[in-house]
Amino acid sequence: MAKVLITGGAGFIGTHTACVLLEAGHELVVLDNFANSSPEALRRVVDLAGGDADRRLRLLEGDIRSPQALEEAFTSQPSSGPSDGGIDAVIHFAGLKAVAQSVHQPLLYWDVNVGGSRALLAAMAAHGCHTLVFSSSATVYGFPERVPIPETAAIRPINPYGHTKAAVERMLADLAASAGLGEGAEGTGPALPWRIAALRYFNPVGAHPSGRIGENPLGPPDNLFPYVSQVAVGRREQLRIFGGDWPSGDGTGIRDYIHVMDLAEGHKAALEALWRDPPQLLTLNLGSGRGHSVLEVVRAFEAASGRPVPFELVGRRAGDAAQSVADPSEAERRLGWRAQRDLDAMCRDGWAWQSANPHGYGGEL
Ligand code: NAD
Ligand code: WQD
Repeated sequence: MAKVLITGGAGFIGTHTACVLLEAGHELVVLDNFANSSPEALRRVVDLAGGDADRRLRLLEGDIRSPQALEEAFTSQPSSGPSDGGIDAVIHFAGLKAVAQSVHQPLLYWDVNVGGSRALLAAMAAHGCHTLVFSSSATVYGFPERVPIPETAAIRPINPYGHTKAAVERMLADLAASAGLGEGAEGTGPALPWRIAALRYFNPVGAHPSGRIGENPLGPPDNLFPYVSQVAVGRREQLRIFGGDWPSGDGTGIRDYIHVMDLAEGHKAALEALWRDPPQLLTLNLGSGRGHSVLEVVRAFEAASGRPVPFELVGRRAGDAAQSVADPSEAERRLGWRAQRDLDAMCRDGWAWQSANPHGYGGEL
């Protein structure tokens, strides 16, 4: 059992990962400023985990850019949990993720995503915590030259959000190569102490099979999956499909959708690999390795929900690639992990969440 700090743990991927880690017996400290989430999500996580989970999760409201909030996170104990040691590892989800917003507010994205990560890493070093799992993104590949995309593909993001993810990856590589001595220290330091996994997620979708937690976008969703489910539940009239003339089988864009529970299990596997193996920097794609078109997603969601998803075909969206599909083989080699759940399961579980919570955490039927 370990004590894990989860930044951004009230968000979409964070809540599902918290469920998996609580189930595995770990103690969690969650630091979140609720910029894009609600504490209700974590109440449900504790509920789902059952047993003594309420004593193994401590929620702190605070910003990763605040040294005081970070200090509290590294020194706080789960409410009455059994361990009183320090934080053993950090999973760093906190950040902003809206591509279009990042184009309009690039300084905000550099501040939160890069400045926030730098502040977190400094606090980790100060507290002797050197184990980190970082949420990177397939967005670092920009327009991929070919699919499936291996981790060795060129890193050339095409928007400010992607630049901030690539910048943090660069910072992590520099840190992983350092001996962990303080600035200005001389002489031979300890062996390289950092154990870091930078995980490049493809398109996370779906929800916990209970339907109790799921994705809760504020305002009109930018992404396909939550948009489709809001149309199915009657919150929005119709989907706009961006482009019917892509060089793909049916003319719509191809993406690698990954069930959020598979992703959550990938984080547990990454932590276990970091603890098991010598210190290292692991950079891994987390995807299913399977591509699905927009129309396939619409059809699968209609089948899972039993509801129609009306759509109109409109022009391409700026910045979209025709295809993005992971080569997930390195993650399987290094973590012994692979995605298990198919598109039908993603739609079934996504619908369980959307139909029981048509307005997200804001209100239930
Ligand atoms: P999310 O918005 O649901 O979760 C992020 C959480 O971070 C939220 O709870 C938010 O309140 C919190 N947060 C934001 N700024 C903060 C700050 N300054 N201090 C403390 N907390 C803060 O997003 P998600 O989908 O769960 O994504 C988690 C991570 O994974 C993000 O870093 C995101 O960039 C990355 N990612 C997401 C996707 C995706 O499609 N969902 C794909 C690739 C990578
Ligand atoms: C998927 C497909 C659209 C909405 C984004 C970020 C990426 C990562 C994951 C964080 C595309 C089409 C979409 C709609 C549509 N996030 N679409 N109508 O663009 O692959 O990736 O989320 O790191 O950085 O860019 O995902 O869900 O927006 O789009 O036709 O209303 O659905 O054109 O083909 P994307 P998406």
